[in-house]
Amino acid sequence: MLKGKKIVLGITGGIAAYKAAELTRQLVKEGVDVKVIMTRHATEFITPMTLQTLSGSPVFTDMFTPIKDFEIAHISLSDFSDIIVIVPATANIIGKIASGIADDILTTTIMATKSPVLICPAMNVNMFENAIVRENINKLADHGFYILEPGSGELACGTIGKGRLPELAVIMEKIKYILTEKDLLSEHVLVTAGPTREPFDPVRFITNYSSGKMGYAIATAAYRRGARVTLISGPTHLQIPHGVNFISISSAREMRDAVMANLSEATVVIKAAAVADYRPSICETQKIKKKNEDLEIKLEKNPDIIEEIGQKKEERILVGFAMESEHLVENAIAKMVKKNMDFIVANDVTKQGAGFQGDTNIISILDRDGEMNELPLMDKTQVASIILDKVKLIRENRRKNPTSLTGTFPFAWKTVGDGDKVK
Ligand code: PMT
Repeated sequence: MLKGKKIVLGITGGIAAYKAAELTRQLVKEGVDVKVIMTRHATEFITPMTLQTLSGSPVFTDMFTPIKDFEIAHISLSDFSDIIVIVPATANIIGKIASGIADDILTTTIMATKSPVLICPAMNVNMFENAIVRENINKLADHGFYILEPGSGELACGTIGKGRLPELAVIMEKIKYILTEKDLLSEHVLVTAGPTREPFDPVRFITNYSSGKMGYAIATAAYRRGARVTLISGPTHLQIPHGVNFISISSAREMRDAVMANLSEATVVIKAAAVADYRPSICETQKIKKKNEDLEIKLEKNPDIIEEIGQKKEERILVGFAMESEHLVENAIAKMVKKNMDFIVANDVTKQGAGFQGDTNIISILDRDGEMNELPLMDKTQVASIILDKVKLIRENRRKNPTSLTGTFPFAWKTVGDGDKVK
């Protein structure tokens, strides 16, 4: 999502300045055009040559050295940027900006910009807790600057406390958040993700290959677009997305209970989880011992969560997934109709690049208007944004015409849905 964005990275004189080099590398890797400004003190900690090499652009260190294409550098840089990010931000730069001082290339660029400015403080804990620094930070926040809370831990000066530069992943996520248009502000999106585990003794369970990536991508994208997000997830190895209300579950029944407990608040439900349709009828309290004869495990049906939501859908937009290995379209239509969804995202897990585990998916979106949109292989983050675009479109259509997309399904599709091949 950062591809083609223009970022001015301001580096000031703190020990964490070296981390700005890695940030530059990550931004460039995501397709960002990065222009670096360093204060004189920053050049004591890391060389402009390092940043020039990593950013692929000349580094700005003073106001009066002309650089090709940047005749009045601070004006050009402030116009150029989609966002200015200061990493690390010392007590000194925070104080200068808060006092309206513009006496070098970085402070003049900040003073002249209309772009958002993200400040990532890093300093000694006593400096961070100093009443004047706190006042300055609060003043900047009141003026619309974005401030990231520093992390806690061992600081470069040997003391322990708050003052570490926030993790680069946190800074990257904040940049993406700030640069994303907030077009889902009025929505509360409930997303389910990952697999469920259905145990049959204390050490074994039935599950599937879901990694949670598809659902987590949707939750992340919805949060960036301004929605409140509840993410109900089975066990995964993924980092909990920033800003979401995260609820961890294990079995399908736990997922059902968590969904129902949070349903009344949700304006949109997106069920990307791979829920086990069956669970072992009995879960032994002790580990099952190996015997000479075969072991049979009887399975019983799990609750169909999305079907239950579909029965009490009200104004909610309900989005399901169909994970198929054959008859993709027919099965997807049948599930959508039977479970009263607004649209369904069908993925054929036998296709290379689709379904479980990978970073990509190949989907078709079918809606209750009878539309079908087949999409090519794309990143799960792109799939997430297309799904949310569709949610937004349905919401807009409903506002214009409250009966739209709430009526019956097209006759031909309803016939498929009336069949009994749907589970
Ligand atoms: O997690 P990843 O590795 O990124 O993989 C993504 C994915 C393949 C898991 C995802 O894209 C996907 O297809 N998720 C739905 C998987 C699934 O359970 O599909 P289904 O066709 O069996 O179920 C249809 C719908 O009913 C789904 O929205 C499912 O969440 C829901 N369901 C299913 C069974 C059940 N007991 N309750 C449900 O709510």
